[in-house]
Amino acid sequence: MMMTKTIKDLISISDLSKEEILRLLESAEAFRARRGGHGQPLQGKSLAMIFEKPSTRTRVSLEVAAAELGGHPIYLSAGELQLGRGETIADTARVLSRYVHGITARVYSHNTVLQLARHASVPVVNALSDWEHPLQILADLQTIKQRFGELEGLSLAWIGDGNNVCNSLILAAAILGMQISVASPEGYQPNEKILAQSRKLGGRPLIVVEPEEAANDVDVLVTDTWVSMGDEAEEAERLRVFGKYQVNAALMHQAAPQAIALHCLPAHRGQEITDEVMDGPQSAVFDEAENRMHTSKAVMAWLMGESSPD
Ligand code: CP
Ligand code: NVA
Repeated sequence: MMMTKTIKDLISISDLSKEEILRLLESAEAFRARRGGHGQPLQGKSLAMIFEKPSTRTRVSLEVAAAELGGHPIYLSAGELQLGRGETIADTARVLSRYVHGITARVYSHNTVLQLARHASVPVVNALSDWEHPLQILADLQTIKQRFGELEGLSLAWIGDGNNVCNSLILAAAILGMQISVASPEGYQPNEKILAQSRKLGGRPLIVVEPEEAANDVDVLVTDTWVSMGDEAEEAERLRVFGKYQVNAALMHQAAPQAIALHCLPAHRGQEITDEVMDGPQSAVFDEAENRMHTSKAVMAWLMGESSPD
């Protein structure tokens, strides 16, 4: 399956149209089904993976995905690059573009990944910034589609911090015609810019304070840590404020009987999600983690190689 390349970079989930997301999910499913026997569209190509923050899933899924596509991934801890000694982001982007065929970057400031994309001549993929986490949401969408067959018309509830992952999910819901409700404490609700962007895309995100109100009869309950990377200084206050924003058995019971629970991980068991839900029959979190690899293959094959999984 060939997909026309319409973008150079993937910085926001909203860089993708509904059709492109659905095609990427089809491609991810094909890569999943043919693992071990699919094509190698990154053969002879190298990928620079810049990390300013820790990672388990993103690093390993990207590295394995690139290798299985025939490419050569290079892990670059930002602190060990000359970036850490003051070389500019623009110069780093220009130099890496002379060596590699694609760059992924996990950064504190969203502006860093925007600057990398602006100055790199090769594709740049956002591997999490303080504003968005598009690769995560592609894996979430693949997981939801695996469970429900369709995306359009489903209802989602986000419980907790209106953070980077929440931002990407709100935009994805608008693009794909899914209803999303977000329950967050006052002061931690999604940014108005994201809500305005969602409305422009046709979304009608509902922002509430009570978790039960958001969770009522939904198909998918989603949560994430109360303390994202970069928010550590606010940890004590956040632990105090977020106490009731927990996906537990009682909240699952508020959702539709067929509902699933998602979490991008790492989970803080006993805080935003309980063991009972994480390890229970409605949990899809480990499929979600696995799907990071399949969706990353789809994205890299599309932007950096040939898109065919054959
Ligand atoms: N979900 C996710 O991005 O996990 P890591 O921080 O382990 O990469
Ligand atoms: N919101 C979390 C996601 C981790 C994958 C963070 O930014 O730390």
